[in-house]
Amino acid sequence: MADLYAILLAVLSVLLLPHSQAICGYESCPETKEDKININLVPHSHNDVGWLKTVDQSYYGYKNAIHHAAVQYILDNVVTELIKDPKRRFIQVETAFFAKWWKVQSETMRQVVRKLVNEGRFEFTGGAWSMNDEASVNYQEVIDQFTVGLKFLNETFGACARPRVGWQIDTFGHSREQAAIFAHMGFDGQFFSRMDHNDKDTRLENLSMEMVWEASESLSGVELFSGLLYNFYSDTPGFCFDVLCDDEPIIDGKGPSNNVESRVDEFLDYAEEVSSHFITNHIMIPMGGDFQYEDARMNYKNMDKLIRYINERQTNGSIYNIFYSTPSCYLNSLHKSLKSWPSKTQDFFPYAHGKGSFWTGYFTSRPTQKRFVREGNQFLQVVKQLSLLAHLSSEKQTEDLDYLRHIMGVMQHHDAITGTERQAVSDDYDRLTYDAIVGAANNARDALRILTNQPDGEFESCLRLNISECAFTKDGADNVMVTLYNPLAHVSTQYIRIPVLNENYEVTDEKGNQIASEILPVPWEVLALEHRPNNTQHELVFKATANKVANYFIKKIENSEGAQSPVIQKRSRDSESEVVVENSLVKLVIDKQSGLLKSIEMNGVSEEIVQNFGIYKTNYSCAYTFRQEDELMLLHNSIEFNVYEGSLVKEVHQHVNEWISQVIRLYEGVNRVEFEWMVGPIPLDGDVGGEIITNFQSGISSKGIFYTDSNGRELIKREKDKREDFVSDLSAQPIAGNFYPVTSRIALQDNSHRLVLLTDRSQAGTSLADGQLEMILHRRLLFNDGGGVGEPLNEEQFGKGLIARGKLYLVLNSDENEGSKSERVMEKELSLPFWKFFSSSGKDARASVQSIPDFNDLPESVHLLTLESFTENEVLLRLENYLDATEAGSITFNIRHIFDSLNGVEIRETTLDGNLPLSEMKRFKFQARKSGNPPSALEYTTVQFKPLEANKLDEASEFTVLLNPMQIRTFIIKTI
Ligand SMILES: *[C@@H]1O[C@H](CO)[C@@H](O)[C@H](O)[C@H]1NC(C)=O
Ligand SMILES: *[C@@H]1O[C@H](CO)[C@@H](O)[C@H](O)[C@H]1NC(C)=O
Ligand SMILES: *[C@@H]1O[C@H](CO)[C@@H](O)[C@H](O)[C@H]1NC(C)=O
Ligand SMILES: [Zn+2]
Repeated sequence: MADLYAILLAVLSVLLLPHSQAICGYESCPETKEDKININLVPHSHNDVGWLKTVDQSYYGYKNAIHHAAVQYILDNVVTELIKDPKRRFIQVETAFFAKWWKVQSETMRQVVRKLVNEGRFEFTGGAWSMNDEASVNYQEVIDQFTVGLKFLNETFGACARPRVGWQIDTFGHSREQAAIFAHMGFDGQFFSRMDHNDKDTRLENLSMEMVWEASESLSGVELFSGLLYNFYSDTPGFCFDVLCDDEPIIDGKGPSNNVESRVDEFLDYAEEVSSHFITNHIMIPMGGDFQYEDARMNYKNMDKLIRYINERQTNGSIYNIFYSTPSCYLNSLHKSLKSWPSKTQDFFPYAHGKGSFWTGYFTSRPTQKRFVREGNQFLQVVKQLSLLAHLSSEKQTEDLDYLRHIMGVMQHHDAITGTERQAVSDDYDRLTYDAIVGAANNARDALRILTNQPDGEFESCLRLNISECAFTKDGADNVMVTLYNPLAHVSTQYIRIPVLNENYEVTDEKGNQIASEILPVPWEVLALEHRPNNTQHELVFKATANKVANYFIKKIENSEGAQSPVIQKRSRDSESEVVVENSLVKLVIDKQSGLLKSIEMNGVSEEIVQNFGIYKTNYSCAYTFRQEDELMLLHNSIEFNVYEGSLVKEVHQHVNEWISQVIRLYEGVNRVEFEWMVGPIPLDGDVGGEIITNFQSGISSKGIFYTDSNGRELIKREKDKREDFVSDLSAQPIAGNFYPVTSRIALQDNSHRLVLLTDRSQAGTSLADGQLEMILHRRLLFNDGGGVGEPLNEEQFGKGLIARGKLYLVLNSDENEGSKSERVMEKELSLPFWKFFSSSGKDARASVQSIPDFNDLPESVHLLTLESFTENEVLLRLENYLDATEAGSITFNIRHIFDSLNGVEIRETTLDGNLPLSEMKRFKFQARKSGNPPSALEYTTVQFKPLEANKLDEASEFTVLLNPMQIRTFIIKTI
């Protein structure tokens, strides 16, 4: 009854005082006591957006036998408990779940939640669509999923819902780029709880659990306060008060079971221990864990008592002061403490749970899903741009595009793109991604019909081009129009491959000019894929150029017309021992005996480079962990190969063994070597699975140093067997402990040579010996290590081990700087290539493309990172200088013409997420110890330059943009 009254009262107070003044943010933080140890008790629930159960199962509480998880009840019950007492607090992290819940709440309930938010009692922390992984994600995907989450919060609640701190408590290691993204979004700090055990032990000992992370080598002032939680993110041992656990409640009756004394003692012992490892007289103790607070009443009732009895002891001189709090309030206290802090400059990879558990397997786990997410991101960028350029605005179109935005947010979750979810959940992720792409494809079609003046165009996407299969061309490609969409700012020229029959075709551009083309055979290993429709056994290849939209036309012709240059299968000429395959830029030598790559010559340098495939057989690897037991076993004897040579493309088709094949490819005019690998089904040897790698051995004297990218942006220097700030125990896993996440590239070099691999998806990569680069391509495992997902990672398709196909791109260069620069350009083209749309073309169809905004005037190194509708009459535009400080300097340019071509009326600059005017950004500044004495007053960081703000009537000079190396600037353009 008392509860009911409390609820009624709270509801009445909300309804009667709807305009009560909002005091949220730091002003709503609980008071602390200077002379006490202040215990910030932080109620939270960690709600995975899919893991052991699907997103929906976790939300609705279905299949609780698999995992007790029911987010809808957690939110219902937490809100009910919060309104009973203004001191209570709760943090909400995953906006995917919150938005789903919010949608079905009554207006009364919504008012209650608004009040709680406006009073800082229900606080959004993190606030992105999901708590994203930090190893396998690309920065564009992360920025997008924060944008969509924070925008929902801003639109729903306004400023009080804006998160101030990141809460990456469960991600399996931490990237520097993620810290940089938080800083650029205006966040004050972040907390997490997984760190290499040796690193953590060192930090516990010398009080460096909390630090100032210098998150960019190129940009100055990109610092983020980052703190490691003492005991993971779960409750104080013995103090879990929820339906999910049976720790002793606080019993304060008069009887013999009264345990107040002992429970308070226990808690304070723990608090004392925690406190001894942190610098200030404030500590944070999270109360919660995976899917906790389904019985929020149980949680709060016991915490209420704990708080009351602990604070009662203050009258007897206890030094402990405890209260409900939030991570932001804890951070606020740290800021106010005027201390200075240790620094951090690299990142927190790889994460090791113990000396036998390096979580480096997940950098590659589920390689096809990792690729699918990349494609989803590509398509999201394409559809966002197309929808804007064609002014699509119907409710259905907005819904379909939002759905793809949301699903891509889901897929960045730390059990999605990581591949650490159960198989059934993975299948559901595939379903969601596929549905979202198919829905958004309607938008792309609608937009292209408008932009190309072809109301009947089909503009179909082919999602199985990876196996050279496309429903649109399965019976041939006579009278087919291929429409290319280029999401990049600048005109780009790329090779296009289209599955066709073994016929002759003529390719023409929009002006009717004939374009050179060639027909190549699809490797027989691909044709032999059991479930691949086998109509098309060839691919038509031609070189295409597109600014934004370009159409190419394919027509079948008779053999005799000779429009196509023949592709010749190379016979065993060359020398006895070698086969040379070369074009005007690159020369490859293949060893005839072994069938392996032997050397490469390009960019004026040549190098012996041998590529191998190999397997680490392992009994104990799992979805998260790579546990190496035996030496690497190389997987070739003598590789059979065929060479196909045309004037556009040259290919070496290698048959490595029954389950590995590869095409090594050179395109005329393209300064790189493409390796298209196909791996699987990985054979099982009894209970033993395997990690399949490829490595490239060169004579480059790299001295243990190599470089891997951080989420597709800056490169981080790695040194074999070394870590920043601590010594890693590599005794049990010297190989596994040397792998790092590679999102876009890995490189090594000496004085004269530089060797680089670019990837088409995230993978584990390393350099285990001088001059050598090694990538894990695929994994199949039979071991369930009991701690996590509860299933072995044994992906199957059609009843057999899953086959994966993908690409690595190799570049050999002489010069570090020029090399690195050209790799950046390549990386953008490879990660956001033309998207191909297929239509049937009438006899003499020559579609003309409408004039659309042109971005070519932007300097070469400026990337059009984002171009999309923000609200009905607002455009979100992000421009990035993608060169780093070693590659280039600052660039200045003017965006007046872009503003005009988008029908701009006003433009303003925002934080990276697009939701806060940049001029309003005011972040806590924490001082690093190395910069001198502790601060004597509170310090803040604000924007260091004048944010762009202009309107149509202003001089063009007001639209000048300066981009420092690696800088991203975000603008909202108000349109007519
Ligand atoms: C497809 O055709 C090729 C060549 O004709 C053949 O080798 C292959 O086995 C076929 N694939 C299937 C699944 O039938
Ligand atoms: C903690 O110890 C590590 C390893 O000895 C050292 O690199 C680091 O500077 C120390 N940090 C502090 C805050 O003393
Ligand atoms: C956040 O929401 C407020 C209120 O809805 C709006 O005025 C503001 O423009 C939003 N922020 C941005 C950067 O759009
Ligand atoms: Zn999690």
